[in-house]
Amino acid sequence: MNFYIMTLFPDMIMNGLNTSIIGKAMEKNLLSINAIDIRDFTTDKHRHVDDYPYGGGAGMVMQAQPVYDCYKHVETLINENSENTKKARVLFMTPTGRTFNQDMAKELSTEDNLVFLCGHYEGIDKRVLDKIVTDEVSIGDFVLTGGELPAMVMIDAISRHIPGVLNNDVSAETETFTDNLLEYPQYTRPEVWEGEKVPDVLLSGHHANIEKWRREQSLLLTRELRPDLFEKVELTKKDKKFLEENK
Ligand code: ADE
Repeated sequence: MNFYIMTLFPDMIMNGLNTSIIGKAMEKNLLSINAIDIRDFTTDKHRHVDDYPYGGGAGMVMQAQPVYDCYKHVETLINENSENTKKARVLFMTPTGRTFNQDMAKELSTEDNLVFLCGHYEGIDKRVLDKIVTDEVSIGDFVLTGGELPAMVMIDAISRHIPGVLNNDVSAETETFTDNLLEYPQYTRPEVWEGEKVPDVLLSGHHANIEKWRREQSLLLTRELRPDLFEKVELTKKDKKFLEENK
């Protein structure tokens, strides 16, 4: 997977993503992160990329021309780096977009190329958005100062679904949000800490019982903490019986 990020702060993107699991995945060539500076495409002699909004109002608006020329450059990079001739999706980070979630992360992880457009100031001239953007995405109902953090959040969440990125291929399958369930609690050594003991079943070595306990914990946690998700869980007969007995 090749990620292309159109931004005014390329260092923020590169520094934010070159550590830990994503950094290792880059070293292993499982993915590439390419941050492209929109300012490099301005034709303004003062290198401005923004101007006052027509109609007045607070703040500045990013101009169409540098964003569009940056995008055209990204298109040539994609064509040079990839055999896939399908037009890459262009994701615009905006609080008015569709809310990002685990299903979207999984779906996007199957693309060969993804382009992120990070806005700043009060927004970007709508004409260029209409020309290039395929998806408008928000990471939640709050307003950030720019699209860089959302792009990094999404790249992290998407990358975890690319085969080989996580050491253990099953760990993306059993974690929180899979099947609309929250993940069960985890414990490690020591067996007793501050007087608190690890649940006996986890020390039993009995795999079927451990699986059962984990499923039950996931069900209880999801019912209590995320009733919205719990409504969507496909409950088995055993699940229903357990939940009935543990109201
Ligand atoms: N830009 C500013 N706030 C944002 C948000 N919540 N999600 C995505 N992009 C944003």
